[in-house]
This record gives sequence, C-alpha cells and structure tokens, in this order.
Amino acid sequence: MDFDTELKQYQNDINDYLDKTIPSDDKHIGTILSSMRYSVFAGGKRLRPVLMLGTAEIFDCPFENIMPYAAGIEMIHTYSLIHDDLPGMDDDDYRRGKPTNHRVYGTGMAILAGDGLLNFAFEHMLEHAYKNNGGKYVKAVLEIAHASGIHGMIGGQSVDIENTGKPMSMELIKYMHKNKTGALIKAAVKSSAIISGADDDDIKRLGLYGSNLGLAFQIIDDILDVCGDDKKLGKDTGSDASNNKATYVSLYGIEKSKDAAASLTEEAICALKHYGDRAQFLYKLTDYLLKRDF
Ligand code: IPE
Ligand code: IPE
Ligand code: MG
Ligand code: MG
Ligand code: MG
Repeated sequence: MDFDTELKQYQNDINDYLDKTIPSDDKHIGTILSSMRYSVFAGGKRLRPVLMLGTAEIFDCPFENIMPYAAGIEMIHTYSLIHDDLPGMDDDDYRRGKPTNHRVYGTGMAILAGDGLLNFAFEHMLEHAYKNNGGKYVKAVLEIAHASGIHGMIGGQSVDIENTGKPMSMELIKYMHKNKTGALIKAAVKSSAIISGADDDDIKRLGLYGSNLGLAFQIIDDILDVCGDDKKLGKDTGSDASNNKATYVSLYGIEKSKDAAASLTEEAICALKHYGDRAQFLYKLTDYLLKRDF
C-alpha cells in the first residue's frame, strides 16, 4: 500500500473509533458532549494516533490493542487545543478550519469541554487497561499522564503563558517547545512501543525518535505561523507575532529555523534505521511532516 493510502486509512480508522467512543447524546449533558465532539471532529491531522499505529507496525502489534490509547491521546491533544485558543491563552478564533470552541459554545463550556475530553481520555484508557490485566497498559497510561502534565504539555504551556511578551533565551524556548508539543508526540511513540511489548532499548530508541520529531514539529508550527496559509492550516496565522510570543522564528529567523527542523528530522530518521523496512511508514511520515504546509 502506498503511503498516502495507508495514512488516509489510519486517519479514517481513528475517526471511526473516536466516533463510536465519545458519547453523543444524553438528556442533560447534550451541550458539553456536542462541544467536545465539535472540536474533535472539526478536522485535525491525527498525527499522534497515527504515530502510535506506525510504531505498532514495527512490532506487528494488533491495532485493537493500541486504539483505546490512540483515541485517548487524540482527546488529550484536542483538549489542549481548546484551552490553548481561549481568550486567557492565545485568544484565537479559528481552529481545524472552523470557529474555535469558545466562539461557538462560550468560554465556560469550552473550558468544560476541554476538561471533559481530558477526563474521558483517562477513563477510556484505564477501562481498557483494567479489563486487560493492567501491566504494560497501565505503564502506557502512566507515560501519557506524565507527558500531558506539569512535566510535559501543561508545564510547557505554563512557560509559554508566563513568558508571553518577554524575551526568552534559546534554552527556555527549547524547554517550552519540547514540553508543550514534544512531550505528547514522544509519549505517543513510547506508549505504543510499550503496548507492543518492545524492550527497554527499543523504547529508549523510539523515545529519541519521538523527541526529535516533536521539537521539529513545533519549530515548523512556528514557521507556518509566519509563512503559512490560514485556509490550508485551518487556524489563524500571525497569532504568535500578535501575541508577542518568543518562538524559534523570532529568535533565529525563518532560514535558520528551517535548518534546525531539517537536522532534527534527520536525527529522528537516524533513530529509525535500526528497524529497516519495518519502519517504512514512519520514515515516510517523518519526511512528510518536515515538508508540510498544513
Ligand atoms: C497543533 O497541533 C498544536 C501544536 C502542538 C503545534 P497539530 O498541528 O497536530 O494540530 P491538529 O491536530 O492537526 O489540528
Ligand atoms: C500550542 O502551541 C501547543 C499546545 C499544547 C496546544 P501553539 O499555540 O503554537 O499551537 P497553535 O499554533 O495554536 O496550534
Ligand atoms: Mg499556544
Ligand atoms: Mg496557539
Ligand atoms: Mg503555533
């Protein structure tokens, strides 16, 4: 199967799974459910769950073992986007090609929709882990919890908010990027390796792949905020400059930032070499992400 077809199939499988998993109607909580579903199904590349499936491919792990965690990570990511767009954070109006959650449902419901997705993600993952004798599944949930929290995404976002409008050192920008974005991407790869029964060396090697890919991904996000097209990206460009945020681009300029993303991508690909053809899909995905304009 060629890369484009395989990617589309993975995205469709993930969307179908999310659709059957996230509740849709209830007498009294219809609004929050519709707000949660609005942001999940507005669009999105499904990068993190796709990375989980690509990693599972290396180890021939059945996708049914991965899906509850792939969906969990996508719910956590979507919650982070809903909150990232709020007036108290980046104050953006457009996301995944649609008005942001708070523009449609109001700030209070958007906060709750984010909270709802976060909590439901863990409920869903832990239900599967509990029914399957815990073990490696609980270890995967721990990896995801760590990466989503103060030592990962939330920590990175707090550095972002605290330093908005201030000059930042490269060391601090790197910390922020590795955590606000890199941590969840790395956790997607590592948790999938854990569920697939990979050994410690593999988990470490794939963690390195994920961390290089994750940092490159946020640097490209910074570049696209300056050079990208709102329609293609499905979100507001120029958000970083209008919020006076320090980014790779504001510190290094476009060309040096592109070079940094390319060399991190090269390092990521290097970590995959060990797996030869078994990592075919991940090679192509990594290259596709470097070249993305969406
Ligand atoms: C956007 O993530 C926010 C960052 C962490 C850079 P994505 O670019 O993966 O957003 P979606 O999921 O495709 O909407
Ligand atoms: C946010 O980074 C990363 C998250 C954890 C949501 P950005 O603020 O740059 O993401 P976009 O550009 O709004 O998607
Ligand atoms: Mg932000
Ligand atoms: Mg933002
Ligand atoms: Mg951005």
